Amino acid sequence: MTLIDLASLSRLTTYVEAYEPDIDRVLISSEQIQSKLAEMGQRIGVDYAGRKLLLVGVLKGAFVVMADLARHIRLPLEFDFMAVSSYGAATKTSGVVRILKDLDHDLEGLDVLVVEDIVDSGLTLKYLLKNLAGRKPASLEVAALLRKEGIQQVELDLRYVGFEIPNEFVVGYGLDYAERYRNLPYIATLRPEAYGGV
Ligand code: IMP
Ligand code: MG
Repeated sequence: MTLIDLASLSRLTTYVEAYEPDIDRVLISSEQIQSKLAEMGQRIGVDYAGRKLLLVGVLKGAFVVMADLARHIRLPLEFDFMAVSSYGAATKTSGVVRILKDLDHDLEGLDVLVVEDIVDSGLTLKYLLKNLAGRKPASLEVAALLRKEGIQQVELDLRYVGFEIPNEFVVGYGLDYAERYRNLPYIATLRPEAYGGV
């Protein structure tokens, strides 16, 4: 018995194939991401047993990590989302962080776990953590799928980190360049030609 027919599978694959000419190399495969998130989710399940876990996602990039990670956490939990400005359409950080959408939850007494797609300079996260700490959560930790090696401008204590990656601009699995590529199931670098026209 098949639950998904082949036609719909090939539609999904075709959709991603449209990006293929832009891809330079795949740094982390879909399988590697999923097994890492399963491991991370299991650890979180143990660490947060009996607590009031709230996952806070930083839009937009974190929505994909959040969805998959949450389903590996075998605990009751709640979701909330924030949107902050980061790079816009460029690939260099401006250092300016603005809250575009705030949380719906009052954080007092909650065990807050911020879920991030990537920590690059760490500036966005540093600002966010300082802001959230002021709202008196019972605890405040970070789970990041990716951390760029070496170039962090601020020291941050990240409780859960999926992968350390080289200092290169990456797309896929929630990460965009000019809002594209978020739906790629893997993490990849782009060919120089793909940056043209923006
Ligand atoms: P940071 O403040 O430099 O740590 O950057 C944080 C945000 O910039 C991330 O949450 C992403 O939205 C974006 N970002 C940083 N590096 C990359 C990348 O390599 N690809 C896509 N987006 C990135
Ligand atoms: Mg972005």
